[in-house]
Parts: sequence; structure tokens; C-alpha cells
Amino acid sequence: MARGEVSRGANPLEPRQGWGKRSEASERVPPAGGDQRLGTDWSVTLDDFCGIGEVVLLKAKSFSSPKDSAERILILDFGSQYTQVIARRIREASVYSEIVPHTISAKEVRNLRPKGIILSGGPASVYSPKAPKIDRAIFHLGIPLLGICYGMQLLVREFGGKVARGTRREYGRGTLKRKRACPLLQKLPGRLEIWNSHGDRVTRLPKGFQSVATTENSPYAVVRRGEIYGLQFHPEVSHTPQGQKILGNFLKKICGCKGTWTMGSFLKRAVEDVRKQVGSGRVILGLSGGVDSSVAAALLHRAIGNRLRCIFVDNGLLRKGEVESVKRIFGKYRHFNLTVIDARKRFLRRLRGVADPERKRKIIGREFIHVFNEASKKVGHGAQFLAQGTLYPDVIESVPIAGNPASLIKSHHNVGGLPKRMKLGLVEPLRQLFKDEVRKVGAVLGLPKEMVWRQPFPGPGLAVRCLGAIEEKKLSILREADAIVVEEMKNSGWYYRIWQSFAVLLPCRSVGVMGDERTYDNAVAIRAVESKDGMTADWVRLPGDLLGRISNRICNEVKGVNRVVLDVSSKPPATIEWE
Ligand code: XMP
Repeated sequence: MARGEVSRGANPLEPRQGWGKRSEASERVPPAGGDQRLGTDWSVTLDDFCGIGEVVLLKAKSFSSPKDSAERILILDFGSQYTQVIARRIREASVYSEIVPHTISAKEVRNLRPKGIILSGGPASVYSPKAPKIDRAIFHLGIPLLGICYGMQLLVREFGGKVARGTRREYGRGTLKRKRACPLLQKLPGRLEIWNSHGDRVTRLPKGFQSVATTENSPYAVVRRGEIYGLQFHPEVSHTPQGQKILGNFLKKICGCKGTWTMGSFLKRAVEDVRKQVGSGRVILGLSGGVDSSVAAALLHRAIGNRLRCIFVDNGLLRKGEVESVKRIFGKYRHFNLTVIDARKRFLRRLRGVADPERKRKIIGREFIHVFNEASKKVGHGAQFLAQGTLYPDVIESVPIAGNPASLIKSHHNVGGLPKRMKLGLVEPLRQLFKDEVRKVGAVLGLPKEMVWRQPFPGPGLAVRCLGAIEEKKLSILREADAIVVEEMKNSGWYYRIWQSFAVLLPCRSVGVMGDERTYDNAVAIRAVESKDGMTADWVRLPGDLLGRISNRICNEVKGVNRVVLDVSSKPPATIEWE
């Protein structure tokens, strides 16, 4: 699927995202990637800020994490966009899963002592001379193994079976019929709805393998030899309704996992790890007020107390009450070492007269790095570490496989190469987690709901919602209008149900009438979207009375606004933010 095209998600195997984007099965997950506007790597964390600064390729450090390998499942990645969905499903069963490149050696696998191995699907054909393979010794480690789609074809071929190119792609719903008992299908009905997506198919089983279940088009939909299993269909997608049970059987009945991966256990371990890494050292952390950096801060604080110094930059482009809320949550009540840098004037000076959206972003990103750099020299003096709220999807090393949209190696926008420049060690306590897991950790750490479940807010802040050149006056109009939107959305319960809702100040004025007076004032647009990941979005059909209330309040309470309009565009063709 080409960049910019969209699928509305009717088909769970079709990418819902643009090129090279992380795919996640969680809600409100800001996407990763790196394209400035189309793909947008825009979580609100400091480390993703605007993509400015040195780009650092982070190889997955997964081989060294975590020590708690008692319940580890390894997923060997053959480039399916759904590899991460498999990882999610496994974690949903309270088992820790890790994605590793298919090039991992048998020795490395053995050292990690996984309870089970999953071979993911992938876009390649096992015939292709460049077909990705694995170290054959992995098949003989005696560790239970499950091949899914490409993973199954690969193992069948490796063991001497035959895989043929199908005359046409088998795609879509199918019915699985069980032929014989099998731990993988234990406690499941004899007939199941499943989802297929494959071109090649197994036509002859290798010696020692038996077919456990069939579909209308394949006599080999589930195959088995001892502790080695293959599935032709995709258990990880939502259109295989019993898929979670099938994976659960693999984990519990076949691999013997107990399911001890909880956010509480993660937190305990993460705190110990930070203590070990940091020793008696000091850490600085850029707090953006977003979920990732806030949770990272709370976790680090629990681990090392006031040897953590948080730096929050007020760039003058924040929403109403944002600085106060960060101070309240982290400073006063929790006694964090928090430094708030008032850089409002500095940012606004640099932005004066700049109307071009991309220039705005660049200026803000660059200025941020300068400010953070200066601040950390001052207040972070003596720090040996920089902490970042990097998440798991940012650090998985994806293996380039021809034709695989997920195969672009993900670049990570580091804070202007700060760790390198300042010779700081990196502390990334959330790097094993997906976004919704981070939210859970935040909740366990006692962060308030409004922080843990807040909607994404772009790094360049109100600058990309104040169209045209930015002025302090326009910003304050927007800030007031936005506060009303947020307040009404929260009061009506809609705020936490959708991806984002905010106000945009349009670069035009229109005629109105107030009392007997003619007005010629600003117009505000309301943008409310639902989305799974920010890559595609649809406008939300908010109730008319709620919209009416927001509009009334903005026109009555915000001086300088006489018109409110509703944005009814989806993404694509529009984007969520207006600039
Ligand atoms: P667009 O406007 O590209 O936005 O459809 C997709 C998601 O990303 C957020 N966004 C940003 N986040 N820095 C960020 O940290 C940015 O420059 C940025 N631009 C957009 C946007 O709010 C939406 O959730």
C-alpha cells in the first residue's frame, strides 16, 4: 500500500497505516515513523520532538533485556506488519514477548531461554532466492515453536515438505475444521471462523508432521510435529475471533507459561534496573507533560528520587493551564526536582512573521534543543544520564525484507543527539512497552487520569493550530477557545472516548453581529477525530447540543471570536492538525 493511501480497517490484514509505521493493537497510539507530515512521528514526548536534531538509529537492545526470562516468548520477525500485533496478543495473555530479527542465531536464542518461539508471517515467498530464513539449529533447540503463515511455510520447507504457489491468493474469512485433538485447539469448538491471507500454500507435509485441521481451501491449515506447530491462518487478527485462545493454548498448554507479566511486576523490575544502571549518578529528563515522558519521570523518581532532575520548557505554545498542571502534578505535590524554563519570549521572537507550517516546526524544534541544552548544562550539571520516554515500537529493529512496508528501519529522533554531545548515558525505562502498557504503568504509579489518558498534543503545540503567522494575541484567543472545547468534551464524557478534540484559529475574519453592533472577528474551527493510531482518522459525529454549547460559549466568552465552524474532514485527505 502506498504512502497516503488508506484502508478503513474492514480488513484486519490490510495496513491501516502509512509506510514504515508501527502497527499497534492499542488505542490512541501516536504513530512512529519519521516522515514530516504524511507519516508523522508525533508522540508528544521530548525525544520525538519535531524530528529535529541528530537522527540516531537505535538497534533493539532486546537481546539484553530483561533478565526475567522465566516467561519470555521470542517472536522471530519475517517482516509482517502484524508482528507487533502478535507481540501484543501475547502480552495480553500476561506473558512477556519480544520481537527479534529472524537473523538471530540459535546460540542467542538459547541464551535468552525463551519458553516458546513464534515465527511471524511475512511478505516474502519461501521460493524467492532472497527468502528470509532462520538458523536451522533453532528448530532443534527443543523449544516449542509456532510458525504463522510465512513462518509455517518456512518450517514446512525446512523439514522437507512442499510449498506451492497458489493459483490465487487465499484471502479473507474461512472455516477451520478440526480433524484430530491438538493442544493448540484445546477447549475450542470443532469449527472455527478464521482469517486467511496467503499466496503460497503447503501442498505436502514433511515426514513426521500431521495435519490437525483443515479449511475449505487447505488440507493443512494447522499442522504439528511434536512441539512444532504451524498455522496457515492468522490467529493474531481480530477477524479470527478465537485467535487469542489459540495463542493462549500455545503459551499455557504448550510452552508452560504461567502468565506473570503484569504492569506491577514490570514496574518492580524496571525500578531495580534503573537503580542498577544509574548507581549513585544523576539523571536529567525533558518533561513534556505528555504520557511517555511523564510516566518515565514518575518511574525514575520512584527509583532514584531527587537524583532525577526534570526540565519542562514553556515555549509559549502550550494550552491553558498546562504549565500549572505539570507543576502541580510533579513539582508541588510529588516533590520532584522540576525546573520550568520560561522560554516563551524566545520562541515567539523566533516565530515572528513566520506563516509557513514547516518553517514553524523547524524553528520550534531547533529552539527547543537550544533551550534544553542550555538548561541541562545549568540545572543538570553533574548529570551522567539523560532519560527518555522511548517506547518499544520505536526501538524494534525491523529487518529490511523486499516488499515489506514495515521493513524500513525505524529512525529515532533523539534529543538533538544530546546524549552523544553531552556524553550522557541513556536511560529508557519504557523501551519494552507499548503505549497502552505505558498508560497502565502510569496508573500503577499513581499518575492522575487526566495525565495518563490525555489526548495527544503535538510538540509544536498551538503553533500548528494558530494558522498563519503567530502573534501573542491570537495565541491567547486560541488558548481560551481550546480550553472551552476541552472542558465541554470532558464534561460530556466525550474527551476520553476519542483520539483528539481541539480548537483551531483560522486565518480569516468574518462579519457578525453582537447586540446592535457589527463585528468583524476571528473564526474558530472545532476538530474532533477518532483514530486508532493517528495515521488515519475520521471526524467524530458529536451531538448537536454539545457542539451548540461549545459554539455558544466560545462566541460569548472568547473576545475576538464571532464564528465557530466544524471540521468534517477525514484523514486522508486532510490531516488531523491543520498545519
Ligand atoms: P497529523 O496532523 O499528521 O497528526 O494527521 C497525526 C497525529 O500526530 C500529532 N502531531 C504531532 N505530534 N509533533 C508531535 O509531537 C508534531 O509536530 C505533530 N504534528 C502532528 C497530531 O496531534 C495527531 O495526533
